[in-house]
Amino acid sequence: MSYTNILVAKENSIATITINRPTKLNALNTVTIQELHEAFQELEKNYETRVVILTGSGEKAFVAGADIAEFADFSVEEGVQLAAQGQDILFNFVENLKIPVIAAVNGFALGGGLELAMACHFRVASDNAKMGLPEVSLGVIPGYGGTQRLPQLIGKGRAMEMIMTAGMVTADEAYRTGLVNHVVPQAELLEFCNGVAQKIMRNSPLAISKAIKSINANYKDGENGFETEIKSFGKCFGTNDFKEGTTAFLEKRKAAFTGE
Ligand code: COA
Repeated sequence: MSYTNILVAKENSIATITINRPTKLNALNTVTIQELHEAFQELEKNYETRVVILTGSGEKAFVAGADIAEFADFSVEEGVQLAAQGQDILFNFVENLKIPVIAAVNGFALGGGLELAMACHFRVASDNAKMGLPEVSLGVIPGYGGTQRLPQLIGKGRAMEMIMTAGMVTADEAYRTGLVNHVVPQAELLEFCNGVAQKIMRNSPLAISKAIKSINANYKDGENGFETEIKSFGKCFGTNDFKEGTTAFLEKRKAAFTGE
């Protein structure tokens, strides 16, 4: 499938999605959000992809936010619709994807850009990256899950301060607070993420998808994460991956998982 604002490259079961509007610092407009939705949906359906890496085009920005030009004239109802639709088709969609999604944060990740990185399963930053939720400086608040996911990742007090000051943190500060898992030189960012993806791909895709579901359950209203874990744990026993993983261990060989 071909897209206007994103690039999708697949190699050895790893798909790399690059948000590609460098002249607008990869700002998320409606078309880009829709295209990202379609690309993620397609990759999830196509069982060949085992890990997705999401990054931004150019050396300056991952994503510098939602496209301010697009929503500057919106009404209250349109504002509600913008946040609801975006959360539904992209941010929550990515968080709940069955295949792991790594955000390779290659520069500015601001507003909707940081929110998108936070919706990914974990984040790796290049050493030049800067992250923040500057929405209150525009008279609005984060609307793509930022008020929820930032406190989950770095704690309530730090999130309050970052959102209230509209300030940016460096990659090293983000690492210290747990917002990103690793900081690497920009030139090595994708190679590093590929290395992490290789480690993930040694393991059962089915078990990984159930782990994602169980971890996410802790943050969902009305769901009991421990119960979700018990059910998902039990389901694993009925899979070929479980039989293969345990048999391979006992036969002292590497497991060849099929995701079934
Ligand atoms: N929405 C729409 N356009 C954006 C954008 C956004 N969130 N962020 C950057 N752009 C556009 C700029 O308007 C500019 O376009 P132009 O060349 O047609 O005028 C282009 O990207 C380059 O940005 P510029 O501001 O000139 O780069 P800079 O290096 O001087 O500053 C930033 C970089 C990231 C500090 C600055 O672009 C910025 O503050 N962006 C907005 C961040 C933000 O508030 N995001 C939250 C949105 S809810």
